[in-house]
Amino acid sequence: MHHPPAIDRERLPALLARMPKAELHIHIEGSLEPEMIFALAQRNGVTLPYASVQALRQAYAFTDLQSFLDIYYAGASVLLTEQDFYDMALAYLERAARDNVVHAEIFFDPQTHTARGVAMGTVITGLERACRDAQARWGLSSALILCFLRHLSEQEAFATLEQAQPYLGRFIGVGLDSSEVGHPPEKFARVFARCRELGLRRVAHAGEEGPPAYIWGALDSLHAERIDHGVQALGDPALVQRLARERIALTVCPLSNLKLRVFPTLATHNLQALLDAGLMATVNSDDPAYFGGYINDNFLQVFAALPQLTSTHAWQLAHNSFAASFVTPAQRSAWQDRLAEAFESCAQA
Ligand code: ADE
Ligand code: ZN
Repeated sequence: MHHPPAIDRERLPALLARMPKAELHIHIEGSLEPEMIFALAQRNGVTLPYASVQALRQAYAFTDLQSFLDIYYAGASVLLTEQDFYDMALAYLERAARDNVVHAEIFFDPQTHTARGVAMGTVITGLERACRDAQARWGLSSALILCFLRHLSEQEAFATLEQAQPYLGRFIGVGLDSSEVGHPPEKFARVFARCRELGLRRVAHAGEEGPPAYIWGALDSLHAERIDHGVQALGDPALVQRLARERIALTVCPLSNLKLRVFPTLATHNLQALLDAGLMATVNSDDPAYFGGYINDNFLQVFAALPQLTSTHAWQLAHNSFAASFVTPAQRSAWQDRLAEAFESCAQA
């Protein structure tokens, strides 16, 4: 692999911001800013248990994954119409384009909406229209990944897949999210097998709060092609070997890990250790409206906190984001060429 020119550390922030990148771990409902939650609540006549935008923001004091999820699902309750899903996704895509995201693979949680009587078609067509407009307006490529909620049953996941059947071809794959501990991947083996038969790509959250066994389970039982988070992998050397050998990407989300107390500080985050172990780590925002930053904030803050990270690591992380994306080899290498150009022009500036 062709390595980029080394770039001084003082120019790293500009480079991190400017380099083209793919975002592979973003829950679209997690991009809903408090201002938009209140605007949509008003538009839809939904009553929120918070008096103001500031009161809602003050509730964003999380102690673990579940304490976040409770508020995240409450926030998503304002989404009712196709236009709501469009507005939410377009706002994210506009913000991502400013961070030089050139491709986004976007998670959505249909069960959060269908449980409230919102039709699957309303969700998917709204999100899809935003994706199309982002391509036209900003040249930003994107695709959708339908996530099953793991705190619900496999039977409910099957029902969700059934509701999504008319829209096959409008999302590229499936994922698994929500409360991890107590809901191992094996619970969803049959529904993921069916998705595989349907030609859908597969990812799964594993090793965020849960043990390395859940990452093994995601690989062996779900045939997951990427692991979302996966930061607990380092506790299991045999697993590290497997992830490295099979070049399974980990979609790491530093600010999420900080806010949900997976690591006490960013300085103790294992992003560099993952890279040094030969793992295909990427940097992503997870739920940017809740965790205090979009993708470039994640890059900037984790690089500031881990002073051993260099421009070569920055290049590796962006290169990995394209390598791990579900696009054609031609598209992938076109973006990787653009990445190399960004490094060359930064080195010459
Ligand atoms: N849903 C939204 N964000 C999530 C996360 N970080 N982990 C699990 N489920 C989620
Ligand atoms: Zn996530």
